[in-house]
Amino acid sequence: MISSIDHWDKIYKTKKHAELSWHQDTSTISLEWILDYSSSNEPVIDIGSGVSILANNLLENGYLDISLLEISRTAIETTKKRLQKRAENVSYYNTNILDFQSNKKYKVWHDRAVFHFLTDNKQRQLYIHKLNQYLDLNGYFILATFSPTGPNKCSGLKIKQYDKDRISKLLISNFKLLRTSSESHPHPNGGTQNFNYFCFQKVR
Ligand SMILES: C[S@@+](CC[C@H](N)C(=O)[O-])C[C@H]1O[C@@H](n2cnc3c(N)ncnc32)[C@H](O)[C@@H]1O
Repeated sequence: MISSIDHWDKIYKTKKHAELSWHQDTSTISLEWILDYSSSNEPVIDIGSGVSILANNLLENGYLDISLLEISRTAIETTKKRLQKRAENVSYYNTNILDFQSNKKYKVWHDRAVFHFLTDNKQRQLYIHKLNQYLDLNGYFILATFSPTGPNKCSGLKIKQYDKDRISKLLISNFKLLRTSSESHPHPNGGTQNFNYFCFQKVR
């Protein structure tokens, strides 16, 4: 079976960015909520950052401490080249989130369309363990997943769809749900994909 790294690396090597089903020209709800819940000097991490425009959008808003974590080396290298001039404000972690180790904590942990690939409960629990470990107390977890009315696969891989009850059950012990929103994301081949967005605060 093809490894997760090879799967994602192949995608970023062979597809133009605007052809990726998750591509955005601007980071809509993610950006709006990060700006609402943090200030520009606070550390923000983007999990599974891919080649997302979010880092550019945050830099344009004066953010000084951005971390990008991504399993695909190709995606990391592409983003590094694109952000070259602002390198001092961006740190890169080329790793699987499930192996992530950090000596710092973040004010915002952002994840758009990554957590929903964890279809195995052990993996989900490990992700949540990392989230608890590296998110500041009172920090924010901003998560976007496919909704129950969205697709059940992304880039050929099975995903788990979430609504607010399903995601809240997983986070109940330490997190409070502050806000939800939904978005019909336009697919480059036509049609739309329904996303749900959730903002949780770590309260314990
Ligand atoms: C659907 S894309 C979303 C990319 C980006 N968040 C965005 O909104 O444009 C999922 C991304 O997560 C990365 N990814 C998937 N599984 C991962 C994991 N276990 N650890 C780190 N990154 C992962 C993939 O390489 C890919 O870039």
